[in-house]
Amino acid sequence: MQNLGIAITGSGSATPATSLHNQRLTELVETSDEWITTRTGIRQRRLAQPTESLKSLASEASRQAIAASGIKAEEIDLILLATSTPDDLFGSACQIQAELGAIRAVAFDLTAACSGFIFGLVTAAQYIRTGVYQNVLLIGADILSRWVDWQDRRTCVLFGDGAGAVVLQASKCDRLLGFALKSDGTQNGCLNLPYQATPRELLPGVKVAQGTYQPIDMNGKEVYRFAAQKVPEIIDKALFQANLSVDQIDWLVLHQANQRILDTVAQRLNIPEHKVISNLAHYGNTSAASIPLALDEAVRQGKIKPNDIIATSGFGAGLTWGAAIFQWGR
Ligand code: ACO
Repeated sequence: MQNLGIAITGSGSATPATSLHNQRLTELVETSDEWITTRTGIRQRRLAQPTESLKSLASEASRQAIAASGIKAEEIDLILLATSTPDDLFGSACQIQAELGAIRAVAFDLTAACSGFIFGLVTAAQYIRTGVYQNVLLIGADILSRWVDWQDRRTCVLFGDGAGAVVLQASKCDRLLGFALKSDGTQNGCLNLPYQATPRELLPGVKVAQGTYQPIDMNGKEVYRFAAQKVPEIIDKALFQANLSVDQIDWLVLHQANQRILDTVAQRLNIPEHKVISNLAHYGNTSAASIPLALDEAVRQGKIKPNDIIATSGFGAGLTWGAAIFQWGR
């Protein structure tokens, strides 16, 4: 009988070496360490240098995840790269496939902003549950510093760069216990990294729209309201599907957007502080990378142990949000 259950068998992460403390942001915009820390919990963020790329960060995180899972790169069937900031708009997953020597793997990018890792997890699970693929490498990676307006104090203090990865494997025992995904395009205007076209007349009557992407634009209050309401709801939904109650959760691993969002969600769900994983003080909001980065750190620190039950939720632009409940390890 084929194994159609899902196990997450290894994790890895990578961040740029260069860090930027809140204090140094005061040299760029009118802000203070105190304002940023009290409103967001962020103290510093890592920034990818011009010599670094999404490919280099994602490949490093992937190598660690592959090693932790005990498989070889050639055994990977599928590589899913969740990102909004590929090195190449045609996609970066194939570049990573080549870098890793994952010669058998099908590779493609998936975009769902800060929900990308959760959407990728559920996508990977479908391939495993249907028996199509056995070994999937799921990467969440973003270099949002490329697209931040460094003169806009409302947004430039929030983001950082990084990558995280996990290996999902077909298993007799199904460790993905429940999930739920949602999208609401009517609220798309809350958070954008929009393409702005400049019309150019090629020939009489034939125009093309060649332009570039504009920096991140965000309605902070609306995003806060959305997250505080929708994240507890969707975790409840995923828990219901998993037939588990809140007190059975060992760890809450949320998208690391903002400490106030983490605290509010935990309070609304009645999850005690010691079960909430938080590393945003060191990295800021790393978008699709934030969940696997937080997960990997907690695993390596020995906090998350085999069989622990983890509730995770991603939320962000789209708007998109989702939750997954899984048990760590084989
Ligand atoms: N430093 C100092 N002052 C600032 C800064 C800053 N970096 N940014 C804004 N201010 C000022 C504003 O100009 C405003 O001043 P004013 O009253 O004179 O006009 C004042 O601070 C209050 O601004 P608000 O935007 O109302 O601040 P708010 O209390 O809403 O906090 C924040 C802003 C932290 C962004 C909050 O809205 C939030 O947490 N939102 C969630 C958004 C989020 O986490 N986004 C991440 C990306 S999306 C995602 O990952 C899901």
